[in-house]
Amino acid sequence: MRLVDAFYRAMDRLPEAATIRAMHAADLRATKAVLVQYLSEWLGGPRLYTPARGVPMLRRRHQPFDIDAAARDAWMLCMRQALAEVCADAGLRGELEAAFYKVADFICNTEEGGQERAHPGRPREVQPGEVQPGGLAPPHSSRAGR
Ligand code: HEM
Repeated sequence: MRLVDAFYRAMDRLPEAATIRAMHAADLRATKAVLVQYLSEWLGGPRLYTPARGVPMLRRRHQPFDIDAAARDAWMLCMRQALAEVCADAGLRGELEAAFYKVADFICNTEEGGQERAHPGRPREVQPGEVQPGGLAPPHSSRAGR
């Protein structure tokens, strides 16, 4: 996929991306192949990722890496550069950039200063079956009484 090649080319070249490049293996062939599978599926094309790798759970899969706002912005810089190379339609480019940003920000797991950043939709990890202190409504409670 041209986008993925352009993306990792940018990551190899841009000095701002040195930190995130160092999180990856020296040989990017396997990583590229997986990103092609993922993006094919994510963009509505053939479902190549899930049958091969399981449900994406991208935040969890990125947990081994310290990804802060700077890492997110470096990733987005590479992706913007790649999109500029392969996508001539400015409107589509803008939409893809916004969609990529949402995923990249969701994946961010480290605050400035190094402490862990909580899951955006989950203020702290809750064990299965644990009652939340604030008393979150149980799922589908809005259906109660219908
Ligand atoms: C926010 C900044 C990000 C950083 C620093 C980052 C970094 C990484 C690293 C180091 C890996 C492991 C590569 C390997 O094992 O070969 C990885 C895997 C991956 N990343 Fe990211 N990533 C980021 C954002 C994203 C975003 C926004 C997406 C999707 C739109 C994405 C999709 C993936 C996928 C699909 C994999 C492979 C997961 C698997 O093992 O099945 N990443 N990423």
